[in-house]
Amino acid sequence: MIQPIPTAPRARLVSTGRFNPERVVTNAEMATIVETNDEWITSRTGIRERRIASKETGAADMAAAAARVAMERAGVGPLDLDMILLSTATPDRLLPSTACDVQALLGARNAAAYDFATACSGFLYGLSMAEAHIASGQAETILVCATEKMSSIVDWTDRTTCVLFGDGAGAAVVQRATDGRGILSTYMKSDGTLAELLWRPGGGARMPLDLSVLDDRSHYVKMAGPEVFKSAVRAMCEAAETALVRAGVTSDQIDLMVPHQANVRIIESTAKYAKMPMDRVYVNVDRYGNMSSASIPVALDEAVEKGLAGPGSLVLMVAFGAGFTWASNVVRL
Ligand code: UT7
Repeated sequence: MIQPIPTAPRARLVSTGRFNPERVVTNAEMATIVETNDEWITSRTGIRERRIASKETGAADMAAAAARVAMERAGVGPLDLDMILLSTATPDRLLPSTACDVQALLGARNAAAYDFATACSGFLYGLSMAEAHIASGQAETILVCATEKMSSIVDWTDRTTCVLFGDGAGAAVVQRATDGRGILSTYMKSDGTLAELLWRPGGGARMPLDLSVLDDRSHYVKMAGPEVFKSAVRAMCEAAETALVRAGVTSDQIDLMVPHQANVRIIESTAKYAKMPMDRVYVNVDRYGNMSSASIPVALDEAVEKGLAGPGSLVLMVAFGAGFTWASNVVRL
């Protein structure tokens, strides 16, 4: 049985920021690239359009742009950052980390910086790591970034995946909680036995990039859509419930649920299970597609900007992604 874990919050989201590339690619334009149509994409996923970054724009550029907005709102300068934690499935290079590139772009000379690879759950894993670093006394001000140039890893000849994803970045400044606001509960889980349902088989250490990898296109994202769908619904329902119980709150107390944005049908199933009416669930998958770990911080930032959540609001965030990984939290903004 899930038990409440009542603790005073140790870390707080002080501000958020986001960056989305300007270029909009509609479902109609996707239909000129692969054999698909607006009706199929909209009815199966809820996606109408997505943003695609220019060739020159990297994951670090997008993260730095989102970070600058969050830092400006928090009144935090680059030298105030003790750490930069960065989630991405699309690092600009395999070595060194994209977090170090963001550090250089921001001029955050006092920070330690590292990447982690927990796919779509990355922003929530990042918030939990930030909380832990603050609780251990290692840091006071942390930048959590999630940045994804999914257009660089999808197979643009595979209609079953390329229509689903988009590019973007979100960021949050996290500091020590002092007034009861902050992260009230966190839940994280993984199941590595299901890795091959959503993965990039080639291009890493086990199957280094060579002509055979390029020939069979195994460096691109492969997904067993329906199997992932079922696991996503199951895991997100479990995660939503666990975060609520651990925080000692019920869904009627939640002002806004901000779920990972992969598919509106997954969001609706999770909301129904968590007893959250859709008017208290933030959805933007129609405009951005699935931006992997950037989806939640972009959605949260938009929701705050629209006044759907603000200081004092109780927010439930829930995510699921490759790994598999899943995670959730309840946060008092
Ligand atoms: O971000 C983290 C994890 N990702 C997810 O959570 C995604 C989870 N999966 C999904 O969202 C859904 O499974 C998809 C949207 C990927 C697919 O929806 P589905 O209802 O599960 O469709 P399906 O894969 O069962 O495909 C049904 C049909 C197939 O044709 P046949 O075999 O029935 O003739 C596909 O070939 O739809 C066809 N199809 C398409 N048709 C037009 C697949 N992709 C497309 C397409 N346009 N883009």
